[in-house]
Amino acid sequence: MLKGPRWLRDAVLYQVYPQSFKDSNGDGIGDLPGITASLDYLEWLGVNVIWISPCFVSPFQDAGYDIADHYKVASRYGTNADLQRLIRAAHSRDMRVCLDLVPGHTSIEHPWFKASCRHKRNQYSDRYVWTDSGWKQAPNLDSIRGYSERNGAYIANFLYCQPAPNYGFAKPDPKHPWQQPVSAPGPMATRQELRRLMDFWLKRGIDGFRVDMASSLVKNDPDARQTSRLWREIRAWLDTQHPEAVLISEWGDPVRSLSAGFHIDYPLLGNRYYMSLLRAEPRRVLVVPPLGHSFFDRCGRGNIREFLDEYLRLLRATRGRGHISLPSSNHDMVRVSCDRNVADLKVIYTMLLTMPGVPFIYQGDEIGMRHLRNLPSKEGSLDRTGCRTPMQWDRSRNAGFSSAPARKLYLPCDPNANRPTVADQMSDPHSLLQHIRNLIALRRRVPALQADGEFRPLYARANALPFVYARILGKDRFVVALNPSAAPAAAVFPFSPGGTVETVMASGAQLDLKTGRAKIAMKGVSYGVFAVTRPAGGGKSADSSAAARPACS
Ligand code: GLC
Ligand code: CA
Repeated sequence: MLKGPRWLRDAVLYQVYPQSFKDSNGDGIGDLPGITASLDYLEWLGVNVIWISPCFVSPFQDAGYDIADHYKVASRYGTNADLQRLIRAAHSRDMRVCLDLVPGHTSIEHPWFKASCRHKRNQYSDRYVWTDSGWKQAPNLDSIRGYSERNGAYIANFLYCQPAPNYGFAKPDPKHPWQQPVSAPGPMATRQELRRLMDFWLKRGIDGFRVDMASSLVKNDPDARQTSRLWREIRAWLDTQHPEAVLISEWGDPVRSLSAGFHIDYPLLGNRYYMSLLRAEPRRVLVVPPLGHSFFDRCGRGNIREFLDEYLRLLRATRGRGHISLPSSNHDMVRVSCDRNVADLKVIYTMLLTMPGVPFIYQGDEIGMRHLRNLPSKEGSLDRTGCRTPMQWDRSRNAGFSSAPARKLYLPCDPNANRPTVADQMSDPHSLLQHIRNLIALRRRVPALQADGEFRPLYARANALPFVYARILGKDRFVVALNPSAAPAAAVFPFSPGGTVETVMASGAQLDLKTGRAKIAMKGVSYGVFAVTRPAGGGKSADSSAAARPACS
């Protein structure tokens, strides 16, 4: 599979969590007209793709990831016409809109599921995975017994209220005749419906989908072979019918997902290489066990190799086939700001926005919104509530999130008087928001820093700082240096050919080139992005010169 549309090259994606982004009508819940009204802000920030978490009809038992009508916008967010207005408004600014696609489960309120619960057989009986007796659990899968007049247990894909549509079993167990092969009529009808649904929204102008739990469709599917086959089929159809559209998987295994046809994959909580970068300490993780020290921590005890060795392996294994994204956070994680200050975050974003792939920024991360602790579960959030609080637009009591009184807000705002706000940071040239805006502008100006530019570590040692890498495209060379630790750090490493250094964005970092080597000196918690122009008339291209590769692992 090819890498997909050209527009991905300079894409910077912004995730909108609609219920807590921007409220336009004062009911305390964000909505689509609110997103449309915020396009000025997003355009000012420089992001050019938005992914909107599910905005469809739902009983909101998993915050909308439990869909009850895939073809209709939830009334609390507006109407299908509002969504079309948003798409048109975004397109008129050269921005793209991706929706969330949730193929692995629906809501228990979905009419298809309700029909499949009936005792009497009907066209939906085989559209969900059911055992053939209410006494029987499904081996190795979560099953819910006693829910319906139908004598069987249904498979839940995530929470109990999210039954799994039937895509069949890769290896149906003959001892369990209720396990249908992928080619059975029920699973085939489910596939058809998936395509119909994608087509419906693509024809209404959307630019792609972020696909929820993309690997979860076919059951008992070792190595996700049948699930991958299904997605490859979808991708082949997409390439002929909607070639500009992209598929972003929530899979966490780019080697599989990109060869299954996805254009972009991103790591999950269980991906240790990603967690080791930003979320290794107990306070920074949910669900998974802590790993020790994050690379990005002032204590300076993290180890960049824990990230880099696996990341380089994945980059090599997927070269030319798609992109690996590194999200700042999302609606399922502890926010990246946890136990970090603005200076720390500036170093982090310097990396996230100068790496290959497509950067993902989660709403509110660009202003350093805090992760709130000890909030009750809301709409099935479990302990993910703290990263889902209302966007802090200004300093009013309700954070400008809505004109509703605070008690009506979807979730409480950060009560801290010094909370970061968009308004404050837009007018402060030293704010995190401005730093991120500058980085995005730089990335969008410089192809070497974009999705396809080469990535080459220059100084990346276990238990040593700083971390230095190059981004290269054609004759353009950029060097990025990061020191997350409170202590100063310095390094000398081979670098050839030399050239002239121009400091593009830096705080407390200096790069000097001598013949054949580079010297970087960094203060505590510092970053630098440098452009290196080749010496006039001399030196081979950095791409072709073997001498330019010595520190590359
Ligand atoms: C994904 C979503 C998460 C949701 C789950 C079930 O992981 O990101 O929010 O709860 O899938 O749909
Ligand atoms: Ca509203």
